[in-house]
Amino acid sequence: MIKGLKIIDIKRIPTEDKGNLQFFEGNRDIDFEIKRIYYISEVPKGVWRGGHAHKRLKQMLFCPYGKVQVKIVDGFNEEIIVLDTPSKALVISAPLWRDIYWEIDSSVLCVAASDYYDEKDYIRDYEEYLKYISSR
Ligand code: TYD
Repeated sequence: MIKGLKIIDIKRIPTEDKGNLQFFEGNRDIDFEIKRIYYISEVPKGVWRGGHAHKRLKQMLFCPYGKVQVKIVDGFNEEIIVLDTPSKALVISAPLWRDIYWEIDSSVLCVAASDYYDEKDYIRDYEEYLKYISSR
């Protein structure tokens, strides 16, 4: 697995015939405090989003409904992580390029992030990303 990536099993509490409850806690199940939650909804199947990296932000991605593919690139290697169950999460804690593909209509992608929204933390140009990681 690419350095800076981790797959986590989110804790799941089943209730007989009444489904599951999942939960995770900042600084306990993931190694950062959660300052922001965002989620992407109503995306048609076949769409790609993402197409950026973050310089400092740490994120935990999970898909409580549907199925998305997260393609991660570190400049040399590529890895595809499929999020298709509410109890699986991908933690990204390094400046890795990500593209996300919607495999099922209206899959919901949720993200718990280590910091507030800051456009200056984004790298949205792949050539710029390659320069950024080679200069680190
Ligand atoms: P972006 O991170 O580019 O989403 P994606 O990678 O899925 O395409 O964000 C889309 C837009 O939303 C962009 O204009 C920035 C804005 N945005 C916020 O204002 N606050 C946020 O917390 C996030 C994540 C995005």
